[in-house]
Amino acid sequence: MPQTDHAAPTAFDATVLPAAALQRLRDARHLLVLTGAGISAESGIPTFRDAMTGLWATFDPAQLATREGFLADPPLVWGWYVWRHAMVAGTAPNAGHQALAELAGRRRRFTLVTQNVDDLHERAGSGDVVRLHGSLAAARCLRCSRPHPMPALTLPAADGSRIEPPRCPACGNLVRPGVVWFGEHLPADALARAQAAADDADAMLVVGTSGLVHPAAGLPARARAAGALVVQVNPQPTELDAVCHHHLRGTATQVLPGLVRALGG
Ligand code: APR
Repeated sequence: MPQTDHAAPTAFDATVLPAAALQRLRDARHLLVLTGAGISAESGIPTFRDAMTGLWATFDPAQLATREGFLADPPLVWGWYVWRHAMVAGTAPNAGHQALAELAGRRRRFTLVTQNVDDLHERAGSGDVVRLHGSLAAARCLRCSRPHPMPALTLPAADGSRIEPPRCPACGNLVRPGVVWFGEHLPADALARAQAAADDADAMLVVGTSGLVHPAAGLPARARAAGALVVQVNPQPTELDAVCHHHLRGTATQVLPGLVRALGG
């Protein structure tokens, strides 16, 4: 059962976590972090499901985030991903991404798993990010999977309107966005690494995810079942509330820098 619930703090106050929980995070032999769209929200990238700003409030996921949707209208879908790629290129990592990069540098075993398709963790200095849902930058051939660069378009030139996708120079097939669409399998190596980390970690932070999309959403329960302390950072209640031992009800930039400071060196 959740043990703590708090109004959104203006900055992380270490006393909102019981001292024993803070100590378990400090002493963790292997710390696992799972991030979702919420960690990039304060960089200006809209989340998927936030009622007011969610990306899917104005777009139909069946059209824009499925293989069938892409095949039905490749220029519509490709243009949308070119726009998202350009939008992300115009943002910068925030204090939440930076705090996690700092935390990783201090740990012997640290695994950062993200559902995000932006590159803000890497730009904040996190290396070796386990990407469960692919990357906006990693376009590839629909048939032979040969990597293909994304167009170097920036805003406002990339405005989301239709763009004919390039053709693979090797096999002539369409180039597709590098993200995992609904109904597709996650990259097997990334999923295996994330699940192995959940089995091995003795503490886990779950940051900015609604916990609605599996298998990523199953990782906190898996880590808890294997004995990890699970702490959630999110300004809103989520599907994961019952799985997490503790809840830090604030945004990533409100909570993570202070939490990382409280965890010390
Ligand atoms: N800091 C922390 N959390 C935040 C912030 C913030 N500043 N702003 C919003 N949140 C929280 C919301 O309360 C919500 O719980 O981030 C979460 C965002 O949820 P989703 O939009 O559902 O994003 P995510 O959980 O990453 O979605 C999972 O679904 O659409 C697919 O493949 C896509 O990777 C995505 C997956």
